[in-house]
Amino acid sequence: MTGSEAAVAVAHPNIALVKYWGKRDERLVLPCADSLSMTLDVFPTTTEVGLTRHSTDLVIVDGAPASGEMERRIVRFLDLVRERAARTERAVVITRNTVPVAAGLASSASGFAALALAASRAYGLPLEPVALSRLARRGSGSAARSVFGGFVLWHAGAPDAADPDLASYAEPLTDARLDLALVVVLVQTGPKPVSSREAMRRTVRTSPLFPGWLAATRADLTAMRAALAAGDLAAVGAIAERNALGMHRTMESAIPPVNYRTSASHQALEEVRRMRSGGLQVWATMDAGPNVKVLCPGEEADHVAGHLRQLTGHTVVVARSGPDAVLREQAP
Ligand code: PMV
Repeated sequence: MTGSEAAVAVAHPNIALVKYWGKRDERLVLPCADSLSMTLDVFPTTTEVGLTRHSTDLVIVDGAPASGEMERRIVRFLDLVRERAARTERAVVITRNTVPVAAGLASSASGFAALALAASRAYGLPLEPVALSRLARRGSGSAARSVFGGFVLWHAGAPDAADPDLASYAEPLTDARLDLALVVVLVQTGPKPVSSREAMRRTVRTSPLFPGWLAATRADLTAMRAALAAGDLAAVGAIAERNALGMHRTMESAIPPVNYRTSASHQALEEVRRMRSGGLQVWATMDAGPNVKVLCPGEEADHVAGHLRQLTGHTVVVARSGPDAVLREQAP
């Protein structure tokens, strides 16, 4: 590597309170609808990108060379950065996750946010954060949101925008007033059966519920923004839960169905409902995997985590609001 053309970036995963599920443009990764998330303070990804004189890119993920689809996606992303920077050098990418990849724990969000930041710096492409979110989006849609900390809105962009790439970006929500925690129940940490990319494509093309999902998620987004601005935790929780369950029902209606929920997920969801009936302020959300994340007031997170640990027997991690993606001075 040549010292001055290397950079290290750290980014955190985010969990959507109003989900992104469905693309209207696969190449540009343009979503069908806006989505809204909270960046977490746990499970960061650290990525180092250094330019090299070698003729191919080398990608190391969690200590082992990447191969197959994962390597292709990262190399394609580097090609995009090189094209924009008008550079041709290959790169060595060393990335470390603190969470298992492809388990529906948003490792692609933190991964591509960290890669976008480190690669754009290493290739000398000066990007302000909103532009960085557009670039990260091309790697993995949800990565656009991990560029920012706290509550984040990702704009789908108007379908008739003059430049649709420019119109679809993330930005922090400055009027959100809520101390929200997300308690992650690690039901399972193995790779998922179907990639979110394939699952979304199948849902858009074949699920009879997809048009209804789009209308519902757009309404949820408007209601969620109002609930966050009002600091109304009960409304935030209820909207987030119905949105996540609606997303799962929609993909489960695809042909063939996409089933990320396992019996252990259903059991955890049931425990959340039971805890709520018992008077606790808890609501569930789920992504493209079997793990269940439980929203609750920040000051009750440890108590809720203790309950969930005991009731489900799974590993439970408390997550709170996390920071922006940042560059780090030294190599990890
Ligand atoms: O960014 P992707 O392609 O991994 O899609 C993520 C989709 C969900 O996590 C299920 C929802 C979301 O908005 O993050």
